[in-house]
Amino acid sequence: VRKASIQRRLLQWYRIHQRDLPWRRDQDPYKIWVSEVMLQQTRVETVIPYFHRFLERFPTLEALAAADEADVIKAWEGLGYYSRVRNLHAAVKEVVEKHGGKVPDTLETISQLKGVGPYTAGAILSIAYNRRVPAVDGNVLRVFSRLFASADDIARVQTRKKMETWAYHLIPESNPGDFNQALMELGAMVCTPTSPSCANCPVRSDCLAYEKGMQHELPVKKKA
Ligand code: ADE
Repeated sequence: VRKASIQRRLLQWYRIHQRDLPWRRDQDPYKIWVSEVMLQQTRVETVIPYFHRFLERFPTLEALAAADEADVIKAWEGLGYYSRVRNLHAAVKEVVEKHGGKVPDTLETISQLKGVGPYTAGAILSIAYNRRVPAVDGNVLRVFSRLFASADDIARVQTRKKMETWAYHLIPESNPGDFNQALMELGAMVCTPTSPSCANCPVRSDCLAYEKGMQHELPVKKKA
């Protein structure tokens, strides 16, 4: 089918067009984790300076685990959604206490940490550990709705699960982290919500929505 073509075109596009983001410079699971938690409810441009400052302050997982809660919250000030950082702090302490300071590398174990849902787990496992695990965020839901011309309501948990299955089957053996980030990057830079830039899309020829002229109708997102 279109699987090999989508993999090849998307990875090649990502290698050339990816943004140079600070958390893409190494595969330290702690840094990837911090970046993904910050990015959950905050835009990339806002996150960048916070990411640098947070890692200067708490350069390692051990340093964060040993820090006072008040100092950790302080470093988060301005990012909002403080339950994110409280969960992160509790979770890194647990990693030190129960896992010898090593971020777990299996879905089962990492998912037991506070604040680590399927998306964050998939992002850390694929980017830091090269594991074939889906990381389906809002960008990826939109990309898949269009690529596969799916009218499923992306606000439904059932749709997310279905698309996680699609993602699982699509992730290549090599560079799963790059592939997941390429899907996110495509959603952020090309396959945008209101005016997708199909002329610049590396997988236009694989896209069923484009073929049917439906890219502006998809995804379907009903209000709860
Ligand atoms: N949003 C969430 N995770 C991201 C990542 N790794 N790169 C870019 N945007 C993201």
